[in-house]
Amino acid sequence: MPIKSKRRIPLREPTDFGDGTHPTAMVNVTNVCNLDCAHCFVFRDDNPNSPRDKMDDGNMLHQLAILRDKHDIKSMMFMGGEPMIRRKLLMQAVKLFEYPAIVTNGTYGIPSLPGGIVTISLDGPEALNDPIRGDGVFAKVREAIAARDREDGTTVMLQMVVTRKNAEGIEDFVEEVKDWPVDGLAFTFYVPRIADDSGFAWEDLRERDDVIRRTIAIKQAYPNLVKANVGALELMLSDCCIQSTGERGEHCGMRGVLPLYMGDDEGGSFERTFCCYGNDVDCTRCGAYSVFNTAYQRGVRGDGEYHHRMTALERRKSG
Ligand SMILES: C[S@@+](CC[C@H](N)C(=O)[O-])C[C@H]1O[C@@H](n2cnc3c(N)ncnc32)[C@H](O)[C@@H]1O
Ligand code: SF4
Ligand code: SF4
Repeated sequence: MPIKSKRRIPLREPTDFGDGTHPTAMVNVTNVCNLDCAHCFVFRDDNPNSPRDKMDDGNMLHQLAILRDKHDIKSMMFMGGEPMIRRKLLMQAVKLFEYPAIVTNGTYGIPSLPGGIVTISLDGPEALNDPIRGDGVFAKVREAIAARDREDGTTVMLQMVVTRKNAEGIEDFVEEVKDWPVDGLAFTFYVPRIADDSGFAWEDLRERDDVIRRTIAIKQAYPNLVKANVGALELMLSDCCIQSTGERGEHCGMRGVLPLYMGDDEGGSFERTFCCYGNDVDCTRCGAYSVFNTAYQRGVRGDGEYHHRMTALERRKSG
């Protein structure tokens, strides 16, 4: 009987993103997702997000390795869509980078990434999370976290995206998760699109200030669990936040992160968006904690070379 030969898919070169150095980058390994979260920036109209996996595993690994070497990428954040939908590829791709990080919705189990960070998204206590992330999602993720091996060397973080619709639950969320087998809890705030009318954004940023102050109080009550700098949270307050973002990202320290979205053209290719949050973003109301923490580290602490995600992992590596 003739042996079936596997058709070899030719390897293609990645898109040319110039010659810049990008110590940190992010990649959407798939545009497919099993959830349909109401606040999600990925599936906004102006972003490359065709829901098909056009880039095969071989090309993805090949192109990521080339981009790593060309741009000196040390830390890669793997996202999607839901990255665990391409689990086999994902677990090969993380090995390409010195400092890998995965952000997952947690519904496919919690990946083991010794030496790296796995961030699991939940958007409040069950009664507030499930209307955003879907019925039964909170319970499923709680089970997956309970089942993980806490000694596997992975830094596991929970992340809540605080919006106008779930802000009331931040204190209850901490009470609910504080004894879970995770290494920390992160709060980041909603990044709206321009002219956002979803109801997730605060129309007037002064209304967000109260939530930021409550987040600071939580940090002070749980200094080890909550991974945030009070100084960075203070930079988010309405009277000064524009200094860390700019009207159109001109002050944003996260613009140096190379965002690799999965484009729509034949065979699939990476596309660079305006920032990690896509193309259609309202910087004046950006709530990304990493933006303000980068400003805090670089400006207030004078750490000019600070790069998001690198410090925690470097500290961990050096024991
Ligand atoms: C786009 S998801 C991709 C990874 C995975 N599917 C997940 O949900 O974790 C990455 C993170 O972005 C957050 N996110 C989605 N839309 C957002 C928005 N408009 N503003 C701020 N964060 C957002 C999600 O809650 C999640 O924590
Ligand atoms: S699980 Fe992640 S990618 Fe999927 S819709 Fe929700 S936030 Fe977006
Ligand atoms: S939306 Fe936020 S992260 Fe993106 S460029 Fe604007 S300020 Fe930076």
